[in-house]
Amino acid sequence: MLKSIKSNDNILISTSILNISNDIEKINEIDKTSTDYIHLDIMDGKFVANKCEYINKIDFNKKVDIHLMVEDVVGYVHKYKDYKPEFITFHYESNETKIWDLIKYISNYSKVGIAINPSTDVDTLIPYLDDIDLVLVMSVKAGMGGQKFIDISDKINKLITLRKENNYAFQIEVDGGINIDTVNKCKNADILVVGSYITNSDNYERQILNIKNILKK
Ligand code: DX5
Ligand code: ZN
Repeated sequence: MLKSIKSNDNILISTSILNISNDIEKINEIDKTSTDYIHLDIMDGKFVANKCEYINKIDFNKKVDIHLMVEDVVGYVHKYKDYKPEFITFHYESNETKIWDLIKYISNYSKVGIAINPSTDVDTLIPYLDDIDLVLVMSVKAGMGGQKFIDISDKINKLITLRKENNYAFQIEVDGGINIDTVNKCKNADILVVGSYITNSDNYERQILNIKNILKK
């Protein structure tokens, strides 16, 4: 009999560089840490009020995890596909009627993720769960860094149950307000996006290790 392996035996960290998006030296410093992914938050000033872009292409050593907070998903995928990201994630709320088209389009370039804001129920994703690689559960409303963590542990648990019952393969990522006080609420996820807790510090690696040490316990 095959031994079932818990997918979260080793939770990965994806560092959001939103707060330092204009500082290439700091971004390069993050790339040298033990973060598992670099999380690129991309905002169009329409789907969310803020704007954030990475105009000059940066060469990362780490794997790239793209979080699109935009209306024109196809346009932004085209703009950022050269990063050869591991994941490109778009918001369910940005394109409710075009989900299948977008899954198909993104899968030409990377693994596909769908993000849901705190007010969106996990059930809305049920039709797509067998066809995507990542569910990004927002633990703040998408749009800016440094917000207060919202407890979304029920959503994580529901996704884990759905995944187990149906033998789905998607990974669960949580994004927003994660720090040493809130990380315990995300322990059942697979990837955690951490921004301010790392980038507001003067020692990025120490902050990443602080989070990783709590996850080991
Ligand atoms: C919010 C972004 C997040 C956020 C993470 O819209 O998607 O990636 O900036 O940063 P913190 O950890 O500061 O919430
Ligand atoms: Zn994000």
